[in-house]
Amino acid sequence: MGMIEVGRVVTVYGRSLIRFAAFEDKIHLLLKPGAYVKVECGGSWAYAMIVSFNLLDELYRRGRIVEELEGYAELRPARNELIAMLVGLEDGGTIRRGVPELPKPGQKVYAAETWDLAKVTAQGDLEVGRLSCDPSVHYTLSLNMLCSRHFAVLAMTGAGKSNAVAVILASILEKYPYSRVIVVDTHNEYVPLASRYPSVRVASPAGRTARLVEARYGVKPLPLEVPLWTLGLEEVAGLLRLDPSKATKQLMYLRNAMQEARRARYPLASADDPIYLEVGELRQLLERQAKTSRYTDRSLDDLLLKIDMLIDNADLRYVTRPVESKRIYEEVEGEEPRKSVEAYTRIYGRLLEPGLTVVALGGLPSDAQASTAATILKSVWRLITASVLAGNPLPTLVIVEEAHNYAPQGRWSPARDILERIAKEGRKFGIGLGVVSQRPRELSQTLLAQCGTLIALRTANPRDQEYILSSMEDVVGEMVEGLSGLATGEALISGSAALIPAVIRFYDFQSRYGVTLGGKDLDWSAEWSRPPKPIDLAPYLVGEEREEVEAGEEGEAGVEKSRLLEEFF
Ligand SMILES: Nc1ncnc2c1ncn2[C@@H]1O[C@H](COP(=O)(O)OP(=O)(O)O)[C@@H](O)[C@H]1O
Ligand SMILES: [Mg+2]
Repeated sequence: MGMIEVGRVVTVYGRSLIRFAAFEDKIHLLLKPGAYVKVECGGSWAYAMIVSFNLLDELYRRGRIVEELEGYAELRPARNELIAMLVGLEDGGTIRRGVPELPKPGQKVYAAETWDLAKVTAQGDLEVGRLSCDPSVHYTLSLNMLCSRHFAVLAMTGAGKSNAVAVILASILEKYPYSRVIVVDTHNEYVPLASRYPSVRVASPAGRTARLVEARYGVKPLPLEVPLWTLGLEEVAGLLRLDPSKATKQLMYLRNAMQEARRARYPLASADDPIYLEVGELRQLLERQAKTSRYTDRSLDDLLLKIDMLIDNADLRYVTRPVESKRIYEEVEGEEPRKSVEAYTRIYGRLLEPGLTVVALGGLPSDAQASTAATILKSVWRLITASVLAGNPLPTLVIVEEAHNYAPQGRWSPARDILERIAKEGRKFGIGLGVVSQRPRELSQTLLAQCGTLIALRTANPRDQEYILSSMEDVVGEMVEGLSGLATGEALISGSAALIPAVIRFYDFQSRYGVTLGGKDLDWSAEWSRPPKPIDLAPYLVGEEREEVEAGEEGEAGVEKSRLLEEFF
């Protein structure tokens, strides 16, 4: 097949951008999102992805003097300019980043062929979709690069982020039987994956939250316990809604109490070390501080009140009154600190067994979500780094949905430190991070700057676009401006895991894998077209411990309940 010449280079600028004038009769080949062209460059082909258009209309064109095109007779009638970003040099079927020298004005520009592209895009490990400009070409991502250099999935709500993540997860699960992935699932969207893949474990806070997950999805979650003693100072502060930058005094009281409670068991403990303590002890120690203080301190009283509310909060029993993990702690023999450390390892070690762990936090207040995620991620960090130092790597990918809640820009959250730490240092311990957010500009810039791969779906807000541009390497302004025009499920992929930067359409998870993700919007017109079904909400409204419903009793009723419980998630 002959190569199709589509235009001539007009300007080369900014190290990687070329502006070229396209022939009128070839323009239709180039107007698809993310279409590629190639130009000769030092004896090889340099590929460039079209990122911007400037198409002028006939009447306007006639009225202009096209002096700058003098010397290019064949271009005289056309004034269609396209901007393309050089993405790299063809090198035996792959694309090598960078070009040895820039193309020159006047050089011929050719359309890239399907065959060339297919060779390049098939070389990754995870097949996630197809090129938008040429749907016959499958697109793959490199697993190593995706996990070791971290990635961000950014877009406005409804653009297809969760679908994209689910497709990535499914392709990991189908290909790698011993993969190790932990998803912090803020809206319980990934729970249904468990119905298809046996290696998917759903862990949800023991008690009401877990019951709701089961009622809605018919998947029985592992009851998650995050005992208070495994929390550090910041996580406890998060549960109590103390912002360390403001509540400095309360934080000091809390710190003293936590440290003292831990030191009663292990004299060298800090306030943060996972050494056993009980919430009642914490309360007593705070009360004692109140008594020994010479004057009454309102902030201490306030702190005591907050502790009482924490103790009373039935949804947080999985933190304040865990049953299973208490048994584990009591069963471990030996002296402190070994006893605590051993119990800690047993409680959280389960997260690191091969498979996908969906930590379903939907239904919890966001402070509790953040503290829970922080504690879990810290434990993952501690266990993995220790294991690596002992010569046993446990490569683990951590994906965080609604990451702006956990690592916000310019605001404190208990999970921010550990997420930034994973982003900065995870690579050397084999901890990969994937952050998903619909509010890129509210997401920690530190975090975003560490993400080597950008998966950006439709993003209309110019401030979000600008923020993405300033936070990510390898991204040019013209690319992010194009993000507002993407269709649902379409994404611009750029960075380390991309064999070639591309605009692709992710597979539709539901039709490809036959599973419907959770957390979907209600179908209003359907709901309003039929009478509501009566259900007994009591077990879901009251947080008291209740025996699990007998397995046989649920049946139909369980399914019916689930429909009306959407609002809880
Ligand atoms: N690649 C795709 N192909 C077809 N439908 C998609 C695709 N991506 C998303 N959708 C649909 O669009 C809707 C929103 O997707 P979702 O992934 O929940 O968006 P987000 O997580 O960005 O809010 C869902 O109904 C989903 O099924
Ligand atoms: Mg989503």
